[in-house]
Amino acid sequence: MSDRERARAIWAAGDFPRVARETIKDVGPALVAAAGVGPGQRVLDVAAGSGATSIPAALAGADVVASDITPELLDAGRAAALVAGVGLEWVEADAEALPFPDASFDVVLSSFGAMFAPHHQVVADELLRVVRPGGTIAMANWTPEGWVGQFFLTMLPFLPPPEPGALPPPAWGVEDHVRALFGDAVSAVGFERRMQVVDRFATPEALIAYYREHFGPTIMAYRSIADDPERIAALDAALLAFATRMNLAADGEPARYAFEYVIVVARRAAA
Ligand SMILES: C[S@@+](CC[C@H](N)C(=O)[O-])C[C@H]1O[C@@H](n2cnc3c(N)ncnc32)[C@H](O)[C@@H]1O
Repeated sequence: MSDRERARAIWAAGDFPRVARETIKDVGPALVAAAGVGPGQRVLDVAAGSGATSIPAALAGADVVASDITPELLDAGRAAALVAGVGLEWVEADAEALPFPDASFDVVLSSFGAMFAPHHQVVADELLRVVRPGGTIAMANWTPEGWVGQFFLTMLPFLPPPEPGALPPPAWGVEDHVRALFGDAVSAVGFERRMQVVDRFATPEALIAYYREHFGPTIMAYRSIADDPERIAALDAALLAFATRMNLAADGEPARYAFEYVIVVARRAAA
C-alpha cells in the first residue's frame, strides 16, 4: 500500500468529521484568528478534512480552497459548508504535491493536517511554495508530550510499521524542528502553546470506546491485530491506562482532558 492509499484508508475509517466536531471544535476558529484571516484574502487549507478550519476561514470572508487527500472527508466538508451557508472550493490533493501554482495564496492554514504527511521537509517546501512572499503560514500541531502525541505513542506498537523515511507527526509540535524545516524561507515564526479542553466523556472507559468506534487511527490499530486476542487485550489495557493517567478530574467527577497543541504562525520572507 502506498503512503497515499494508507493515509486515505486511515482517515476514511470511522467518523472523523464527528470526532472533529465533538472534540476539537475550538481549534479551527482559533487558528483562523491567529492567522488574521479576513475578507478579500485568498486562503488555502491543507489537509482540511471536513473543513474544521476552512469553514471558519470562509465565514471570516476569505476566498477559501480546502484540500485533502481523503475524498470522503471532502464530501463531508461540502455538506457542512452548505449548512454553514458558505461557498468554498474543495480539492483532492496530497500535502506533499500541492496542485497549485507558486505564490498563489495570501494565507496557508493547516489544523492537525499537514503534520500527518510523512515527509516533513517536502510538506514545508510545498507550504512555502504556494504562499506568496510576505504571506502567512499558520498551523495547529499536536505536541509530542501532549494528550494526542501520547495517544499516538500508545497506539504505535500496534500499528503496521511506517514507510521508510516517514517522520513522526508530533515532531511538527517541536519548535526547533519547525524552525529547521522553514529555515531562511521565513522572516518570522511564532509559537504559542494552547489547550483544547475535552470534557464530554463521563469516564476514561467511555473515551476509549468512543475513539475505538469513530477515530480512524484507533480503528486501524485494532484492525491490524484483529486475529490476535492477546494483542487486542494488550491494546485495550494500554489505552485504558493512558486514558486513566491523563484524566485531570478528581475522583468521582466526570473525566476531563486537556489536549495540548501549538499554534505556529510564520511569515514567508519577501522575495
Ligand atoms: C486529524 S485530521 C485533521 C483534519 C482537519 N484539518 C481538521 O482540523 O479537522 C488529518 C487530516 O489529514 C489528512 N491527510 C493525511 N495525510 C495527508 C496528505 N499526505 N496530504 C493531504 N492530506 C492528508 C487526512 O485525510 C485528514 O483529513
